[in-house]
Amino acid sequence: MFWVSLLALGATVQAVPQRGGAGGLSMLRFGCAQSVIDRIDPLVDPGKIPSPHVHQVVGGNAFNASMASTDVSNLASCTTCTFAEDFSNYWTAAVYFRARNGSYKRVPQMPNQQIGNADGGVTVYYTATEKVTAFKPGFRMFSGDAMRQKSAGLGRNMQSCYRCFPGPNFQANTQSPCMDPKIDSEDFPKTPCPGGIRSSVIFPICWDGKNLDSPNHIDHVSPPVGGPASFAVVNGKCPASHPVKIPQVHYEIVWDTRMFANKADWPEDGSQPLVLSNGDTTGYSQHGDYVFGWKGDSLQKAMDGKCFGPSCNGLKTQAFPAANKCTLKSQVSENMDGWLDKLPGQGMSMSGMVF
Ligand SMILES: *[C@@H]1O[C@H](CO)[C@@H](O)[C@H](O)[C@H]1NC(C)=O
Ligand SMILES: *[C@@H]1O[C@H](CO)[C@@H](O)[C@H](O)[C@H]1NC(C)=O
Repeated sequence: MFWVSLLALGATVQAVPQRGGAGGLSMLRFGCAQSVIDRIDPLVDPGKIPSPHVHQVVGGNAFNASMASTDVSNLASCTTCTFAEDFSNYWTAAVYFRARNGSYKRVPQMPNQQIGNADGGVTVYYTATEKVTAFKPGFRMFSGDAMRQKSAGLGRNMQSCYRCFPGPNFQANTQSPCMDPKIDSEDFPKTPCPGGIRSSVIFPICWDGKNLDSPNHIDHVSPPVGGPASFAVVNGKCPASHPVKIPQVHYEIVWDTRMFANKADWPEDGSQPLVLSNGDTTGYSQHGDYVFGWKGDSLQKAMDGKCFGPSCNGLKTQAFPAANKCTLKSQVSENMDGWLDKLPGQGMSMSGMVF
């Protein structure tokens, strides 16, 4: 694996595998602004309003608690993503700050490096180094474990991780995410991060070729033989049960912890103050939900075309002033953003676990 600066995107410090290496790298990297912060989850808790915990959601405006498992590109009329034909939805748990006095405040998101003036949201990657099969309409999947309270034990192949930025302008963003347990952790950073915290979620790269979804939203996809693939290391062989290589989907969310970095506001015992919206104070349970929604064969074209970064020959893009406008109203009306005595949904049972 070669590591070079991400020159194609104008970045100076972020390292990604070399473009056009063996097999030819395709790597879409683009921003999707925030659509909504809401306590619904059409994948894990379809129809439930409210669902147990708050999510931050980006992508097409067909997102709702009971959205159909169909071609969502026909249901949506706009998207918060740079690629204007990408009506997919991408979501994760939200992050809250627990102040010394016990009150909670949601940690907002900020645009990632080189993403421009997106209103928060997620940076999405689709990566391949060989011919891959783009997802089919109705395809959905999940990565992570919302109940996890300890390391998944994957070492340099972590599928969810946090990077602490110790200063402004993405200081310390010198390596690809989730590959070095010395730089990235599966649990929340233990020290203040005055430059923000980047949370990464990586999805499996093999598909059974038949099912658009499965009861746990995981079993129809699989890591390659030998275990989960690191970010952009997608040359693994798929197992016979899941023979179809799909693009590697990867989310990056930059939590804006700048105003939460003052240790005087942290718990007196010195413990770190962040908590996921599902009540997890460790951070291990961060997870990602994916609903595919690219129009027609646009994603297949992008992967076949060896596209790189936020533009691709023949694909329509939009600037953030337009993308930022495609917001949704939350379906649950509750205070999610003020100073709160408890987390939204706290006390509600999540698969038997009450937090
Ligand atoms: C949710 O989306 C479905 C289509 O996927 C639509 O039929 C339904 O009316 C929507 N519900 C709400 C509350 O907007
Ligand atoms: C708790 O602390 C925060 C931050 O210092 C403050 O803004 C908030 O009003 C406090 N909440 C209560 C209930 O005192």
